[in-house]
Amino acid sequence: MNAIEVEHLTKFYGPARGVEDISFNVKAGEIMGFLGPNGSGKTTTMRILTCFFPPTSGTARICGHNILTDSLAVRQKTGYLPESVPLYLDMPVFSYLRFFAEVKGITTKSRKGKVDEVIGACGLDSVAHRLIGKLSKGYRQRVGIAQSLLNDPEVLILDEPTIGLDPKQIIEIRNLIRGLGSKRTVILSTHILPEVSMTCDRVIIIHKGRLVAVDTPANLIKRLQQTPRIIVKAGGPSEKIKDALGSLPGVVAVTQKQSGSQGLHSFQVETQEGVHLINSIARTIDNHNWTLQEVRPVDMTLEDIFIHLVTEEEGADTT
Ligand SMILES: Nc1ncnc2c1ncn2[C@@H]1O[C@H](COP(=O)(O)OP(=O)(O)O)[C@@H](O)[C@H]1O
Ligand SMILES: [Mg+2]
Repeated sequence: MNAIEVEHLTKFYGPARGVEDISFNVKAGEIMGFLGPNGSGKTTTMRILTCFFPPTSGTARICGHNILTDSLAVRQKTGYLPESVPLYLDMPVFSYLRFFAEVKGITTKSRKGKVDEVIGACGLDSVAHRLIGKLSKGYRQRVGIAQSLLNDPEVLILDEPTIGLDPKQIIEIRNLIRGLGSKRTVILSTHILPEVSMTCDRVIIIHKGRLVAVDTPANLIKRLQQTPRIIVKAGGPSEKIKDALGSLPGVVAVTQKQSGSQGLHSFQVETQEGVHLINSIARTIDNHNWTLQEVRPVDMTLEDIFIHLVTEEEGADTT
């Protein structure tokens, strides 16, 4: 079952594109990462999903409820951690959460129980009676997450939950999110790559408002690794080097990446599956008396994939 269904979402701010034609599903119980550089449309998408503003076109459903026609039900089913939570710094954690429990319409009778529950779930017991303004950033973020849990949401939407935290706090928040995700559907945005491979079951990559890929981190790596690649850095006449590399048996394609200083050029050589060309590449360069600085196979990281996908997308833009 899908907890989140997004169909052709488009949002323009006047003439400026927020997102365009975004479609994806998130299965119930999944932790989905929403990855993209700043300005790629993560917050825009999340604000549409939480009924903060409507899309220009397209639609979405949360637990089967349409964001356009059934926004009350959508809000009941979702918890939202905005990019920067406007916490009341001069309130103690407990009072703050009790206040928002009231705002969210939780009855007086069940209010204290609910607040205790989210305090426990977010590891806030030891600071429950401290002023929010006196808390570390990591703890403030927990207060924001606790707040988003008050209505017992099935779907949690977290906008950059680890931004601005130190490495220890990041690990703690990550663990908290993973724990919360065991019973809920979570979509969390980040512009930091390791974040998604560590926390998420699947990842949506967006760039400049457009969806670039949706897959598991492992599949993304596999998908783009179909043709083995070798990086060659060599000095000499670039066209001639490129031709020589291209004429080696087993080479599928050669792309020149960049020309560096001192006449060094960088090439990416795509090869057929199962052929080992490191030695013959080194010999070829040597036979021509060119200088070989580096020859190594490319192991793709999520970062490479991201750059690869985004470059493909930019290539597609110009055609
Ligand atoms: N209120 C707004 N008015 C005009 N443009 C906006 C507004 N909010 C966002 N944008 C633009 O929409 C694009 C996506 O922004 P946003 O969703 O905030 O990206 P992200 O959260 O990935 O950093 C950006 O180009 C941004 O400048
Ligand atoms: Mg944002």
